[in-house]
Amino acid sequence: MLDTYERNINYLRISVTDRCNFRCVYCMPPQGKRWLDHDDILTYEELLRLIEVFNREGVTKIRLTGGEPLVRKGIVEFIAAVTALGRIKDISLTTNGSLLPPLAKDLKAAGLSRVNISLDTVNPASFARLTTCGRLEDTMKGIESAMEAGLAPVKLNVVLTEALTEKDLAYFVELVYRHPIAVRFIEYMPIGGRGFGGGPDIATVKKMLNEAGRALLKPTGTVRGNGPAKYYQFPRAQGAFGFITPISEHFCSACNRLRLTADGKLRPCLLSNDEIDVKTPLRNGASDRELAELFHAAVAAKPQGHSLCRSSGFPDFERTMSQIGG
Ligand code: GTP
Ligand code: 5AD
Ligand code: SF4
Repeated sequence: MLDTYERNINYLRISVTDRCNFRCVYCMPPQGKRWLDHDDILTYEELLRLIEVFNREGVTKIRLTGGEPLVRKGIVEFIAAVTALGRIKDISLTTNGSLLPPLAKDLKAAGLSRVNISLDTVNPASFARLTTCGRLEDTMKGIESAMEAGLAPVKLNVVLTEALTEKDLAYFVELVYRHPIAVRFIEYMPIGGRGFGGGPDIATVKKMLNEAGRALLKPTGTVRGNGPAKYYQFPRAQGAFGFITPISEHFCSACNRLRLTADGKLRPCLLSNDEIDVKTPLRNGASDRELAELFHAAVAAKPQGHSLCRSSGFPDFERTMSQIGG
């Protein structure tokens, strides 16, 4: 379905829970957040109904997010049910990776195509500091299990923070030479966590990668995905690097997505507080047509770009990144 600015909206990011077993400093305040009550979270049955209705309006790609989507019980069965609809072309998931090892194979068998895993540094102490309650070892095992299960291509999400060092970049260079992995560097967005002054910018990261790889990264179109990353490759490397630049070079003109929060609000834009409530009508007996109209209303409400594009600065965000799912 086309929006006001002729963008084709065919991708839905569904946050299945606001809960997380980590507390990354850029994603949540240090004291954490009060979790939503169970009753406030859309049930899997409700989600399936919305997916069916939204699919008829053009949604063919779905990403499951959180919080941490793997903390929600029944996620494998839910993915199998989405697959069984037979109408969604790409089901993917964004995770911190720590809970993947026992689930990766079952997720793949249920129809999940691929996973994006957060890994901001490979220094165990910095990792523990950034994630507050995460262990590097667990996420590393998660990455391995995803590769073994064929959840491909595995992508790593590296938010640019002061924790990122030359050693990390050397590790990532080695990784993409040897494996068909995509390592993506993401500019920090000021939603709900604390700000970062000290992290390198994208141009510096690219320069350091070229130095560490002793080659020049060249643009490539070979990485599968529905998101805003721009990809680059070293000659003869199996994997690639991606850059996600919501701040320095926004990508709003190519935006193809809506978000659904765990408590049933459709968000036309990640970086705007506007939301449309679907949970209340859904629970009050709305027809499929009425639900489709809410989808249309969210598409119509999509801004041309986020507030930084309009030089008005970011608003105060009412939700944290952990409550939206990125
Ligand atoms: P694929 O390209 O399909 O693999 O997914 P993705 O990169 O869009 O998904 P992921 O959940 O891994 O998100 C990576 C980063 O991109 C996160 O920091 C997201 O917040 C950010 N991101 C994804 N979509 C948008 C968007 O529409 N706007 C902005 N500003 N950031 C986004
Ligand atoms: N800015 C940019 N990216 C973020 N993520 C979480 N919080 C932020 C933020 N404030 C990323 C994480 C995760 C993805 C869903 O969003 O890397 O992988
Ligand atoms: Fe789309 Fe808003 Fe993200 Fe821009 S910031 S790409 S308009 S969701």
